[in-house]
Amino acid sequence: MKKINSKELRSLYLNFFNEKGHAIIRSASLIPENDPTVLFTTAGMHPLTPYLLGQKHPAGNRLTDVQKCVRTGDIDEVGDASHCTFFEMLGNWSLGDYFKKEAITWSFEFLTSEKYLNIPVERLAVSVFAGDEDAPRDDESAQIWMSCGLKPEQIYYLPKKNNWWGPAGVTGPCGPDTEMFFDTGKPACGDNCGPQCDCGKYLEIWNDVFMQYNKKEDGTFEPLKQKNVDTGMGLERTVCVINGLKSVYETDVFAGAIECIENLSGKKYGESDDVTKAMRIIADHVRTATFMLGDQIGVTPSNVDQGYVLRRLIRRAIRFMRQLGIQKGEMVKLAMHYVDFYQEVYTELVDNRQKIHDELNKEEDKFSKALDQGIKEFERVVARLNGTVIDGQTAFRLYDTFGFPIEMTTEFAAEKGLTVDIEGFQAKFAEHQKKSQLGSEQRFKGGLADHSEKTTKLHTATHLLQAALRKVLGDEVAQKGSNITEERLRFDFSFSRPMTKEEVAEAQRLVNEAIQAKMPISCAEMTVEQAKEQGAIGLFGDKYGEIVKVYTMGDFSKEICGGPHAENTGDLGTFVITKEQSSSSGVRRIKAELR
Ligand code: SER
Repeated sequence: MKKINSKELRSLYLNFFNEKGHAIIRSASLIPENDPTVLFTTAGMHPLTPYLLGQKHPAGNRLTDVQKCVRTGDIDEVGDASHCTFFEMLGNWSLGDYFKKEAITWSFEFLTSEKYLNIPVERLAVSVFAGDEDAPRDDESAQIWMSCGLKPEQIYYLPKKNNWWGPAGVTGPCGPDTEMFFDTGKPACGDNCGPQCDCGKYLEIWNDVFMQYNKKEDGTFEPLKQKNVDTGMGLERTVCVINGLKSVYETDVFAGAIECIENLSGKKYGESDDVTKAMRIIADHVRTATFMLGDQIGVTPSNVDQGYVLRRLIRRAIRFMRQLGIQKGEMVKLAMHYVDFYQEVYTELVDNRQKIHDELNKEEDKFSKALDQGIKEFERVVARLNGTVIDGQTAFRLYDTFGFPIEMTTEFAAEKGLTVDIEGFQAKFAEHQKKSQLGSEQRFKGGLADHSEKTTKLHTATHLLQAALRKVLGDEVAQKGSNITEERLRFDFSFSRPMTKEEVAEAQRLVNEAIQAKMPISCAEMTVEQAKEQGAIGLFGDKYGEIVKVYTMGDFSKEICGGPHAENTGDLGTFVITKEQSSSSGVRRIKAELR
């Protein structure tokens, strides 16, 4: 295998596809221009949606680029070896031109040829779509892989959950895909070990999507006029994998940034887990903030939408900088390092150098003093606390007076084994908003960071889970927290002991029964009093405004919530509880997925 750095990979890739007749196009903005259903550009294909749907692209029907992407579902996972909020995606597209044969053959050539990545064929594994009622089993792709030299045992047939990509938002182009993995050579973790499992044997490097469907608002798939290819290779991750590194933070992409943080803090990456984690968070968040501020469209910190995500990232970075002893005013140094590092590829960073500098300093000024005071206030709250839950009113005060994003309060709380009454916070927040007439378009609903179809379904499943837990474990169960990403839900609830295996299985069975019953989901607005009378669960007291929304799912669940929700429980798929564990004293945590 070749040892190559990020710059080399970028140019190898673009030149390879350029030689195959692809026009090299510039990365689009991080802010999607045609899709109000998502906050940021999450994939290379996203800005190309109109062309995948049939519009003519001025540069032709074969394109290649490196696209700036942001995915924010996992902000609180950043700090581990692989999560980043910003990343670059290399891609090539056929807009109604070539299809599976060329796409796969070229992917194979790029991965294995000596001139390019030089990965030994036996170290590859690929997955192809297993087929279902929406599209047939993809034997054609498997055949093409075999004609390239892969053995049948290197090819895995996987269902839609693994081998279908898109749409990027709620509607749009999508289709079955074939994903390429590097086999690290580790022993298999069990009989079912394969690219779909996350034991670390197989690392994904590339995805060829055969975009031949358009997903419509009613959830059905219509064949597209043209058959497209959309491929995506994560730049940072691929550099990490082919250089045999343990973490993307050890690649050349982050080397200069980590060195900068080491110089500013006087600490060493790797000296302790806490230091490593803090350095990764700072390196990631400041890079993402630099790209958001220095984007051709761009955003500035605010309390809504993209601006709120940016604010959260900057404030979280500041918090971890303080933890490492990095003083106020130093964040811009790291940002300027990134501007220099990326200046040839993303010239907009250079154009916006001053803006990046000024906005970061402004946000740091705003937050620094409040952070120190807020931490003191937080310590006082903890010292006075009765029990393990920080109430919504206090969380709101930390937000309103000290500028703590709710996610930050939750994180501080978790470090002390505490949880936060998120719904109580939301209620206070909504009340405050009503008063100041700011509208209610905030994105704090039920732990939901954004409203993709997947997160909406998982959020809906959370209601079913809470109802099921109350049936199995009794009324002691009440929601203590919820966090949802594209992949899973996480639900914290009050309960004094670990659940038994049987109880977990029964809760899962009840949820699936509710799904199979295909119950319509309705929403009604009513007063808190009426909601109580109807037996709705949720937090009452004076925490809610006058009128609340109550979501009803057949006779199974009735809960106060802000939404959004699926329309029918039957849309959710299969519910699987993947973990039941302790969250803090008296609070249990369940992680679950929809498959
Ligand atoms: N859109 C696909 C992905 O994001 C391939 O580019 O993986």
